[in-house]
Amino acid sequence: MVTATLPKQQVKIGPTQLLINNEWVESASGRRFETINPSTGEVICDVAEADAPDVDKAVQAARTAFNQGEWRRMSARHRGELLYKLADLMEQHKEELARLETLDNGKPLTDSLNIDLPFAIACYRYYAGWADKIQGKTIPINGPYFCYTRHEPIGVVGQIIPWNFPLLMQAWKLAPALAAGNTVILKTAEQTPLSALRVGELMIAAGFPPGVVNILSGYGPTAGAAISRHMDIDKVAFTGSTEVGHLIMEAAAKSNLKRISLELGGKSPNIVFADADMDAAIAGAHNALFFNQGQCCNAGSRLFVEEKCYDEFVARSVEQAKQRIVGDPFDPHTQQGPQVDKEQFDKIMGYIEAGQREGAHMLCGGDRVGDRGFFIEPTVFAHVRNEMKIAQEEIFGPVMSIIKFKDIDEAIHLANTTMYGLAAGVWTKDITKAHAIANNVRAGTVWVNCYHVFDTAAPFGGFKQSGIGRELGEYCLEHYTEVKTVTIQL
Ligand code: NAI
Ligand code: MG
Repeated sequence: MVTATLPKQQVKIGPTQLLINNEWVESASGRRFETINPSTGEVICDVAEADAPDVDKAVQAARTAFNQGEWRRMSARHRGELLYKLADLMEQHKEELARLETLDNGKPLTDSLNIDLPFAIACYRYYAGWADKIQGKTIPINGPYFCYTRHEPIGVVGQIIPWNFPLLMQAWKLAPALAAGNTVILKTAEQTPLSALRVGELMIAAGFPPGVVNILSGYGPTAGAAISRHMDIDKVAFTGSTEVGHLIMEAAAKSNLKRISLELGGKSPNIVFADADMDAAIAGAHNALFFNQGQCCNAGSRLFVEEKCYDEFVARSVEQAKQRIVGDPFDPHTQQGPQVDKEQFDKIMGYIEAGQREGAHMLCGGDRVGDRGFFIEPTVFAHVRNEMKIAQEEIFGPVMSIIKFKDIDEAIHLANTTMYGLAAGVWTKDITKAHAIANNVRAGTVWVNCYHVFDTAAPFGGFKQSGIGRELGEYCLEHYTEVKTVTIQL
């Protein structure tokens, strides 16, 4: 494990303008907005604020690069080489990028260094390898014809990402889109613009031609909405709230029927049977919920525990939550930093109140930590019922809700009683129960005796209102390509 070695003051702030056509520019309006350090509530710096005219300009650059630039003429293998080069540059600047991520987002530096950066870099390398392996089929059709398919890039792609894993979400979006030969306008989340811009600088250094990747900082209802309704954007890929997912789909329908892929919210069931390895299940359930300050779309936020082991499990989970170290994300001992901003902080505190109001038992936590920044105590609710607000809505914070169940049928029924379907976990030594859960829970990912196990090769995405499409792995490529059928008379 890498630990931080530099003092925290040494965070190098990279570019703060918009990246359009490989140039750093101010926004058309000249407006800038502040990005806040969530550990202190103080301003880090301000960045250029994109709006519709900047989106237009970026789309023009991306369209030109797609239709007639160097990118179009470049071989697929060379595209892959550029992605490998970017990954190497990120590796060289790993500590610097991790510090910037921690400063802007608040996540512990040990996580930025050991999780976000290695996974982001691995994602660029994985899709670099795919670039020259995206290929069609030859198809035996009737008659004197030769028929084949080509998997072509979709064109100009808009990508809108959230703030919980800024560098990682940038990688999940850019790497497959570029490997497939698209050009991109990427809008970062307004809470965390900094690390993506620094990667933009590394992309120029790696040799990506002008217009291929354009990076805009800005707000959702302005720059984000301008992307989702744009008539010359061929596809939008979005990660964020289910609420905004609906808006993106609506905008696509009302504009040019652009393709969409959506990775949205979750309320993922994590199911513990009494026959499980209890130590592993308790530690696993803790990590499933509290990792990344609870700010994970796939957090194990509905924790179902079998009646027979419920009391013991709850008592031990509370003990573990009380031991979690909350504090300065630059301190190598810290396990939990601040929530990303005041809005998220207030939302989570509201859910903690709602849980108490609805009669769940709050056994630890419930307050803020300190008097500045957006830190919240690890909080555990027991005797939660699945129909309560805290069990149905995405809290996105360090709040664990433990629900009792009697048998496997009830567990499956409760697990599926949600509008979401992103992920699920099950803890048991009984292979039959494990398969029953894996087969019957309606979710895009099921983890058995583990949680949060991601790999850039394994697809991830949601059933139901958790989204449309899959990211990562080979499956993702179909969301960045169009299939063309060519038929030739022999
Ligand atoms: P959000 O969905 O509003 O923001 C995510 C991204 O969408 C940001 O880049 C934002 O600027 C953009 N956006 C916002 N409104 C838009 C619009 N009208 N058109 C186009 N783009 C738009 O999420 P927010 O407000 O940051 O968080 C609210 C809740 O959403 C969280 O508490 C959490 O429950 C959930 N969320 C889920 C995430 C996930 O990984 N699936 C990530 C972030 C938030
Ligand atoms: Mg929002």
